[in-house]
Amino acid sequence: MPLQEFHYRDSQLYCEDAALSAIAQAVGTPTYVYSASAIRENYRAYERALADVPHRIHYAVKANSSLAVLALLAAEGAGFDIVSGGELYRVLRAGGDPSTVVYSGVGKTAAELEYALEQGIGAFNCESEQELDMLREVAARIGAKPAVALRVNPNIDAKTHPYISTGLSEHKFGIGLQAAESLYGEAAKWSPLEFTGISCHIGSQIFDTSVFEEVLSQMLALAARLCASGLPIEGINLGGGLAVGYEQGQPSASIAGYCQMLSSAFAGSRFALGLEPGRSIVGQAGALLTSVLVYKQADRKIFLVVDGAMNDLLRPALYSAHHEILPVFDAGGPRLLCDVVGPVCESGDFFATGRELPACSAGDLLAVATAGAYGFVQASNYNSRPRAAEVLVDGEAFRIVRERETREDLVRGEAS
Ligand code: LLP
Repeated sequence: MPLQEFHYRDSQLYCEDAALSAIAQAVGTPTYVYSASAIRENYRAYERALADVPHRIHYAVKANSSLAVLALLAAEGAGFDIVSGGELYRVLRAGGDPSTVVYSGVGKTAAELEYALEQGIGAFNCESEQELDMLREVAARIGAKPAVALRVNPNIDAKTHPYISTGLSEHKFGIGLQAAESLYGEAAKWSPLEFTGISCHIGSQIFDTSVFEEVLSQMLALAARLCASGLPIEGINLGGGLAVGYEQGQPSASIAGYCQMLSSAFAGSRFALGLEPGRSIVGQAGALLTSVLVYKQADRKIFLVVDGAMNDLLRPALYSAHHEILPVFDAGGPRLLCDVVGPVCESGDFFATGRELPACSAGDLLAVATAGAYGFVQASNYNSRPRAAEVLVDGEAFRIVRERETREDLVRGEAS
């Protein structure tokens, strides 16, 4: 977990040049804190490394869909990968260009397809024959000619957590290679859809980039066959999936190294490269700031009960995910083994178990690291807990980009 964006100065944890204690004092806790520079830098790392090949980075909105994050990436020139009409709405509200948007997902509704067509998005990554049928019908009705890439399921093991692995034939995602090829073969039948690309996404949090090479060689071979059969295939979208380091001292997979491999594979090819990175752009750029409510010495363990919980950051409970816990003040001193848990009424409500932390007491601040991706977006109101605030740091300045929810927000739209 390389903490460049979150680092200690005089025993105090900072995000860029803003002290997390100052943010907690101004905004309260729990609060998600994001580093604008880190997000920009990760995006630019992709752009720099792919400068020599025609490409488009479609940031995967699902990883962190805060308007401020989307606006920041739109200003960098990023495209977007969406999986719902709601995500498209966010991209548009944040000033994103619809023509840079690709729409993925295994179950799109007719209303969502119509909305996306009306907004003129760049392409649809289609995942079933039924979806093609629906898209064709809506497109014909409103006189659109959408660009389509079939999402191919290459039956390749991404060697990651089973819940976030998507590229095996046992998974619900994509269309098997042969079935996809026969759908491409009857392209004319699908008019007014225009089959201009192929796409795939085999999973998330992937360290072993050799699996991407394997997928890419399948995709390049398929694209070449389709072109030879007369289809105007222009692009290959490899999806997202690059891993970040969550554990102390564990480096993230290298964006530069990954893109170098892609760049050589695409050099001289007639196809443009598409990518849909999410986690590798925002994961390390965020932390969840939380306060200790209770120091509880139980029979066998010390529990630090904090004001953040599984409803704020679900990853430890859902995937047994590891997140480093960083004390916001750390003057050294003896460490104690603690479980860091939330107030929610479930034993699965923990951020960390058996961690060495300095002696803490009520009011002390902790940061749950590497929470910029799949953090706030997976938050809920479970236990009727208002969702956390979000803050964007840029240099020494910080601003609230989402207000903490209120009790009134909890019942908005309800009738008794
Ligand atoms: N494209 C598609 C079609 C996807 O399904 C995903 C992620 C991405 C791109 C972005 O992948 P990334 O670059 O972020 O790995 N909630 C889980 C992760 C779920 C990922 C779902 N799909 C977690 O917290 O680990």
